[in-house]
Amino acid sequence: MEQAYQAREFAYAPYSGFQVGAALQGESGRIYKGANVENASYGLTVCAERIAVFNAIMAGETRFKRLAVAGSGEGFVYPCGACLQVLAEFAPGLEILVSDQHHRIQPFHLSDMLPQTFSLR
Ligand code: THU
Repeated sequence: MEQAYQAREFAYAPYSGFQVGAALQGESGRIYKGANVENASYGLTVCAERIAVFNAIMAGETRFKRLAVAGSGEGFVYPCGACLQVLAEFAPGLEILVSDQHHRIQPFHLSDMLPQTFSLR
């Protein structure tokens, strides 16, 4: 979670003003960070969680233990459905920790948040 707070500092969110940081821990123990990156063409924005997973893939790690997410709003920040689908591709059993502004933490499993994922199988 500490790494998610650090990652949030890198958010590029001039349009929403809502910063998100994510820290994804691989099976190796290494942690990969992401922050949301917005665009003037709003729909091109990429969430913190997907930036983290893409960073990990590009470092050669494809199996993951847990994800921590830290947003800048008042309440808990839960990963969006698109990010859950991307995470499920690599880690259907992922543990997900979400936090609020008071550094309270809620633990989930990916399957709690997205019980059915799209699959070609
Ligand atoms: N955002 C994330 O980074 N992760 C989420 O799970 C949901 C939303 C970002 C996208 C956008 O830059 C900002 O939060 C407001 O929607």
